[in-house]
Amino acid sequence: MRGDGDQPNQDPTRSEFYADVVAGLSKAQKTLPCRWLYDQRGSELFEAITDLPEYYPTRTEIAIFEQHLPAMAACVGGNAHVVEFGAGAGTKTRLLLDALKTPQSYIAIDISADFLQSSMAALAADYPGIDVIPIVGNFMETDTLAGTELPTGNRLAFFPGSTIGNLLDTEIITFLAAVRAMLGDKAQFLIGFDLVKAEDILVPAYDDASGVTAAFNLNLLARINRELDGSFDTDAFAHEARWNEAAGRIEMHLVSQQDQTAGVNGDRFDFAKGETIHTENSRKFRLDGFDSIAAEAGWKFREVWTDPKEYFAVALMG
Ligand code: AVI
Repeated sequence: MRGDGDQPNQDPTRSEFYADVVAGLSKAQKTLPCRWLYDQRGSELFEAITDLPEYYPTRTEIAIFEQHLPAMAACVGGNAHVVEFGAGAGTKTRLLLDALKTPQSYIAIDISADFLQSSMAALAADYPGIDVIPIVGNFMETDTLAGTELPTGNRLAFFPGSTIGNLLDTEIITFLAAVRAMLGDKAQFLIGFDLVKAEDILVPAYDDASGVTAAFNLNLLARINRELDGSFDTDAFAHEARWNEAAGRIEMHLVSQQDQTAGVNGDRFDFAKGETIHTENSRKFRLDGFDSIAAEAGWKFREVWTDPKEYFAVALMG
C-alpha cells in the first residue's frame, strides 16, 4: 500500500531506486527490478555465486572460451574493434583480446563510472597496443547506444555471461536491434547464453546449499533499509528459486513468512503470508529459440559453440 513518503533526496540513483521500489511494490504481483541487486554488497555476493559448485554458468562459459577461442577468433577476423556491454575487463575479456588477431580497440559501456575507470585503466596498462575507450551510460537505453560513436572497421559486439537472460524477450529484441543499429549491418556479435536443462540442475544453481544466492536476494531488502530508510525484517522473508517451465526461466522470489507490513521512506506496504516479491528472471534458451529471437532483431547465427553437456552456448552472429 502506498503512503505519502517524499522523494528521499535529489540523488538520481537514489530517487530512481525509490521510484522503482514504490512502483514495483504497488503491483498485484510485487516485483523489484533485478538491476538493484548489484550494490557493493550485492556485487560481492554475485562474485561469490560464480564460484559456487552449483552455479555452472560462469565456469562452463569460460571453458567454452578456453577451448574454442581460436576458432571464434578465426571467424571474427583481424583488426577488430570490440564493444562490450557492461565493463568487462575480467577473465573473458582478456581471453578474447588475447585470442583475436591484432585487435584495434576495446570499448566498454557501463553505468558505473568508478568501476569503468578502474577496470579500463588496468586493461590499458596490460594491452598498450589497444585503444581502450570507456563509455559511461546505461547500455539498456537505446539513446545511449544510438549516441555512441565507434571507430569504423571490423566491429565486434561482446556480451558474455548470459546477462541477456535477465531481460524479458521483448527487451532482448529491442536491445539486440539497438546493438545492430549502433554497430551496423556488417558487424558481428559474440554472445553467451544459458541453455534449458534439467530442473534439478537449474534450481540448485539459484538456491545453493551454502545460502549465498539467498543472501544475494535478501540483500535487496537490506539495501532498501540502508538506502531508502526501509523497515523490512529480512528474517521474515525467505529466498525461493522457481523453474517456470512455460516461460523458460528461473525466477527468484522473496517469500513473506508471515502477514506483515514494511515501510519505505514513510510509505507502507502490506504482505500476506506466502506472498512474494519477484526479484529476477534468468531465461534459459533452446538454441533454435535464441536464433529466432535474434532473427527478429536482424541477427543470424554464423557459428555456435557449446560444452559437452550442452549447459551453455556462445554464438557468433552476423
Ligand atoms: C548476472 N546473471 C547472468 C546471473 C544469472 O545467472 O541470471 C544473476 C544471478 N542471479 C542469481 N544467481 C546469479
